Order: sequence, then structure tokens, then C-alpha cells
Amino acid sequence: MPRTIKVGVIGSGGISRVHLEGYQKSPYSEVLAVCDIDPARAKQRAEQFDVPYWFDSADELLKLREIQAVSICTPNYDHKGSTLKALRAGKHVLCEKPIAMNAREGQQMVAAAKKARKKLQIGLHMRFSAEAQYAKKVVEEGLIGKPYYARSLSIRRRGVPSWGVFGQKKLQGGGPLIDIGVHAIDLTWYLMGCPKPVAVAGKTYRTIGDKPGHVGRFGPWDWKTYDVEDFAVALIRFDNGATMTVESAFCVNLPEDVLGAHVVGDKGGVATGPLKVQVEMGGHLVDCTPNDVKRVDAHHAEVMAFVDAVVNGKAVPVPGEQALWVQKIIDAIYRSSEVNRELRIR
Ligand SMILES: NC(=O)c1ccc[n+]([C@@H]2O[C@H](COP(=O)([O-])OP(=O)(O)OC[C@H]3O[C@@H](n4cnc5c(N)ncnc54)[C@H](O)[C@@H]3O)[C@@H](O)[C@H]2O)c1
Repeated sequence: MPRTIKVGVIGSGGISRVHLEGYQKSPYSEVLAVCDIDPARAKQRAEQFDVPYWFDSADELLKLREIQAVSICTPNYDHKGSTLKALRAGKHVLCEKPIAMNAREGQQMVAAAKKARKKLQIGLHMRFSAEAQYAKKVVEEGLIGKPYYARSLSIRRRGVPSWGVFGQKKLQGGGPLIDIGVHAIDLTWYLMGCPKPVAVAGKTYRTIGDKPGHVGRFGPWDWKTYDVEDFAVALIRFDNGATMTVESAFCVNLPEDVLGAHVVGDKGGVATGPLKVQVEMGGHLVDCTPNDVKRVDAHHAEVMAFVDAVVNGKAVPVPGEQALWVQKIIDAIYRSSEVNRELRIR
């Protein structure tokens, strides 16, 4: 019988809810404590999920020796700090995406996890959706042949978050690219088989987000403090000759919203968001839609996979090392835009 672990959740804002739900769903984990620098939030989450302890600082939570693993659900600017503290306290870490504000910070987190011999998983949950798992199977079974080109799409035509710090570069690290682009890039790269990225050419734009009077599906946002991009585009080259294009937006005048990955090979193609497989059949190129792919809560599945890795001594499914490659791509897109040329990455 696998044992049960006690866990803690650092940061009690929006995303902490799905972590708590995931831990409660797993038969092998029990949330012992939550914390937030805003004590009212920590108390509210503790009461909502019947969690025995709540604190107003991560230091207090990390003192609990029974806690073996933590989720870090704080804003991007704190991912590195809380992760390093948790690792030093001997805890395994599931940290929300992106890994950090930039790859330099991410590298420190990966090195610290290695040194502490603890697990570091990053919350790139889109891999866990039933759609993504089906698409992965299609690629792995060779149905599309060898993937050579892919599109990573995370387009909200008018979707600047109206809460949090998503429009502030110094607290968030960037705009849609680091917030939602990180999910789509990771999913696309995962479906391609995680080839090694070698070069990046990118361009970012801010044309709408910092201006008053625009429509927004999440309501009005603080355009005065908005200093991140609202659209990013890029071409990534991989060492196996494959390429990926990236389009990511909080605001852009395109015809549709989309969040997903398109991957093509010499025998066929596969797309998520929505799920479709393209293959030649009966003398036509046919779009196939599998009809019985069950819905999976990808957030819960991610948390349960983390618990499984800790309890059963398995490798985590989205290791810090992989999230670091995704962050290197994102950093290079921002930098390439600044210097107006393609950059090598390693
Ligand atoms: N995987 C996803 O789909 C997804 C969705 C939303 C958010 N996120 C990520 O989750 C993180 C948090 O986002 P959110 O929407 O929950 O933000 P939020 O603002 O709702 O919550 C963050 C909470 O962290 C607290 N906090 C800040 N610093 C802290 C610290 N040092 N110790 C303890 N608590 C601290 C804040 O007081 C706040 O309550 C971000 O990194 C974001 O990118 C991921």
C-alpha cells in the first residue's frame, strides 16, 4: 500500500484552489497547512478546505516537519524565493508556472533541487488534459510521421487579466508570452518530443494594452501600469531541423481566440484546442475528431501526478529542467525583439 504524505500550500490566491482540490482528490495526500502574506486569504482557504493550520508566512509553514511537499502558488516574482526556501527546508516542490521571472532564476531553482535531492515539478498542466494525452499518443504511435513543424497558439483577442499583477513587467516578467504562451509553448514542444531548441527570432508589440477605452473580456484592466507586451510572435529552430512558430496575445485584432498546439509530420497532423487529427484517407485529406475523449481536470491530474511521484519515488512528469528550456525560449523571444535579430540558445 502506498503511504500518505502531508503537504502545504504557499500562496492562497486564485490558483491555490485547484491545488487544494487536487491534493484532496488524491488518496495519498493530506493538506496540513496553507499560508499567505495576506492572513485573511490563508484563513479563508484553510476554512474552505478544512486545513488544520494556516500562517501568514511561508517560513512558519515550512517549519512543520511532517510536511514533505509543497505547492508554490505565489506570483511569478516569488517563485524562486519560495522554492529555494522550501528546498532548503527539505520539501519536494510543485511550483506554479512559469518556472520563474527568467531562466537565470529558473536555473538556480533547478540547481537547488538537484543539490537538495528533492523533486521540482512546474505547473505546466496543459500536458495533463485528455486532449493533450490523446495527441501525444497519436504522435508517439507514429500516425503523423516525424514532426517537423508546429504552431504554439495562445491568443486572447481581448483578454488582459483585470486582477493580479499580469500587466507589470517587474512583478510578472512579461505579458501574454510568459503567462499563457508558456503553456502553449510547453504543450507544443512536449508533443514534438522535446527537441533541443537552438535559435529564436521573435518580436513583441504593445499597441492596445497601455491605452484607455478598449474592450476586455475580463473587464477593465489597469492600462496605466500596463508595461508588458500585448502580442508576441516568434520562430524557434530545433537541433533536429524542426521549427515552431509562436503567437501569443492578450490583445490582438485577429479573427479568433485559440489556446493549443498544431503539430505536423510527413504522414499527418494533430491539433489541440480543438482536438483534430489530419490524415489522408480514401483519396482525401481528412480531419478526424475522436468522439470519446473524456474530460479530465488537468490541474487536478497534475497535482495527483506530483503526489504519485513523491509517494512512489518516480520522476516528476514536468521536471524543472524541461520548464527551464521553455523559459529559455521565452527569454530569447524577449531579447530577440529588443535586439532585432535571431539569437542562439543553449
Ligand atoms: N496553471 C495555470 O493555469 C495558472 C492559472 C492562474 C495562475 N497561475 C500561476 O499561479 C501563480 C499565482 O497566480 P494567482 O492567479 O493565484 O495569483 P493571486 O494574486 O490570486 O494569488 C497569489 C497569492 O500569493 C500571495 N503571496 C505573494 N507573495 C507571497 C509569499 N511570499 N508567501 C505567501 N504568499 C504570498 C498573495 O498575497 C496572493 O494571495 C502565478 O505564478 C500564475 O502564473 C497558473
